[in-house]
Amino acid sequence: MGVLRRMWLTVASEVSWRLPGRPQRLLAAFALAERGSMLDMLAAVEATDRRELRKKYFLHALDEGRHALVFAERVRALGQLGRAEAAIEDSGKLVEAGIVGGRTLFERLGEPEFLTFVYVAEADAVEQFRVYLDRGLPDTRTQDELRGILKEETFHVSYSRAEVDRYRKEGLPVDWWATRLRLRRLWEGWLRFSRDFGAVMSAFWLGVLYLLVMAPFRLLARLEPGGWQTPAGRPGGDPLVAARMEG
Ligand SMILES: [Fe+2]
Ligand SMILES: [Fe+2]
Repeated sequence: MGVLRRMWLTVASEVSWRLPGRPQRLLAAFALAERGSMLDMLAAVEATDRRELRKKYFLHALDEGRHALVFAERVRALGQLGRAEAAIEDSGKLVEAGIVGGRTLFERLGEPEFLTFVYVAEADAVEQFRVYLDRGLPDTRTQDELRGILKEETFHVSYSRAEVDRYRKEGLPVDWWATRLRLRRLWEGWLRFSRDFGAVMSAFWLGVLYLLVMAPFRLLARLEPGGWQTPAGRPGGDPLVAARMEG
């Protein structure tokens, strides 16, 4: 899984970082994910019964909030804003992505599975950022920021892994939860890819349709005799004025 994922990330990073406009979209997605994590962690601070974890959740939330700001700042610095910036600013995205609204992730999963989720998501993020840095992507300024973020993500991985190990010793099915979660993330990734692929293909085929079918009709099109006409007695007159007078 690890090797395959790294291979996929290596290929995807070429598309994500080198195509025009793509880095902004990816960084905006990171900003949104970090903001969602911050809200999840703040909800955990409130809901947990484990006092010893409350401070870690809170520090974790502060880290994620900072990461969200860093990524949002990078999107703005790279310019060419549009959909990417809209994703950062639009709080509706958080609702759409199921991050806010309804029950929190902590409430839905319960603390052991929530921590397993945190561990899997954080470990995946660390792996992803390392692939980018190993490949020298994207620009040097973003790489510097990624290095700083990576240190804090490593802390998130280590404390959540310690908790997952603890639950495993207690006999909870953490490995099954982690596998189920990874499969779900894989499925969601496939759906995202399919949506993007669908958008590209529909733009292509609609373009072909307009060029080959609609364009010739436009060349042959002529006004019918007795079609558009200026108001009677007012050649070239303002039709709005004429309409008002007729009314
Ligand atoms: Fe983060
Ligand atoms: Fe994190």
